[in-house]
Amino acid sequence: MDELIDLTLKMHGSFAGILLLMAIFNYFFIDKNFEVKVIKKRVRMILPAYYLVLSLILFTGLVLLGAVQFTNLYSLVVLVMIIAWLFILVMSIKSYKKMKFLQKEEIESYIIFYKKKYILDTIILFVVMGLGYSLGN
Ligand code: HEM
Repeated sequence: MDELIDLTLKMHGSFAGILLLMAIFNYFFIDKNFEVKVIKKRVRMILPAYYLVLSLILFTGLVLLGAVQFTNLYSLVVLVMIIAWLFILVMSIKSYKKMKFLQKEEIESYIIFYKKKYILDTIILFVVMGLGYSLGN
């Protein structure tokens, strides 16, 4: 059982790391010089993969929630993880909705939103991973 929890913890941390790398990659993946068609194609390509890794984080996180005993401080960190996860999910849904109805004249404002989203995701993931690793052990 201990080994299983250990493995789940490693997987959870690794998925968080993968999401961080994806957020950085996504930031550079579209640009304001692209055509609407290309932007839509690229966002449709990256978002499902982003959702997949997000769901793997949730799944492993829920397994850990059931298995690990918390100190008070650590419960707070897990709460921060859940809020961060929800925030990233909601902003990703928003980014999809905005992309769906994107018109040529809205490209500039969409790219500003898109870039801000992935900068914020990167910062959030960096901070939450830092908390998770420094307080978890
Ligand atoms: C943005 C999303 C998240 C990130 C970046 C993140 C990151 C981390 C990291 C780095 C650790 C420590 C791993 C280790 O020590 O090897 C951890 C542990 C943990 N996370 Fe998350 N996590 C996230 C979301 C979640 C969610 C949504 C849940 C619950 C549903 C969750 C529950 C837990 C639990 C229970 C632990 C183990 C605590 C312990 O070791 O005592 N996490 N997380």
